[in-house]
Amino acid sequence: MEIFAHRGASAAFPENTLLAFEQAILQGADGIELDVQYHHSGEFIILHDSYLDVTTNGRGAYDELPLSELMQLDAGRQQKIPTLTQALALIKGRCPVNIELKDPHSEPRRLASITGLLRQTLEQAVAGQRFSWADFIVSSFNHHLLPAVLRQCPRVKTAALIASCPLTYGEFTQALEVQQLNVAIDCLNPALVQDAHSRGLLLGVYTVDRLQDIRRCYSLGVDVIFSNAPDKSRDYLKKL
Ligand code: G3P
Ligand code: CA
Repeated sequence: MEIFAHRGASAAFPENTLLAFEQAILQGADGIELDVQYHHSGEFIILHDSYLDVTTNGRGAYDELPLSELMQLDAGRQQKIPTLTQALALIKGRCPVNIELKDPHSEPRRLASITGLLRQTLEQAVAGQRFSWADFIVSSFNHHLLPAVLRQCPRVKTAALIASCPLTYGEFTQALEVQQLNVAIDCLNPALVQDAHSRGLLLGVYTVDRLQDIRRCYSLGVDVIFSNAPDKSRDYLKKL
């Protein structure tokens, strides 16, 4: 079972910052999960919430500020909000990256902007920063984005995110052509794991930090957990 650092090593360091990503690698995470939002300037920024006051000293919705002002904000411990380009330049292919696209909008023009920018950003990372296409998993709760991502970036893996267990389990994933299903720990059950595996899907579970949850994921055959504390989760896993 692989351990991906959820928003970096976010239990001990400010989430979704370069510091949290570097520490995740030092903690031995198998991969890093980060949250990506499309900014109207045509840049991806790494931020979980639409409103700045949740994790920074800014106020209002992130898309109301120019990029130059966003870049000045304090995201904790003197960290700045990183762009996706900056994060990939830091990670430099040292581990896989689960890029969660947060954008809830699905207007065709916006989809095209997002997937086009993603392709350009990942192409640059593959060309200059020691990444291979197989290092990228692109996930989203916005399932409209996933086939569009595959059309632009056919060599990445895609993952559908869900926060509740669908009546027909993983049936909906067929239309999305995803390789992975990432589910909330609250909707984890043996039938869902079995269904996912019978469809050839990897199963990821978020957010998993507690020993009893790690034990449950491991015993059910979960493939990936997303943990805020990859170091502690690794210790728990070793003791099982
Ligand atoms: O990608 C898994 C998980 O991060 C999805 O939920 O709200 O933590 O982004 P959230
Ligand atoms: Ca996330």
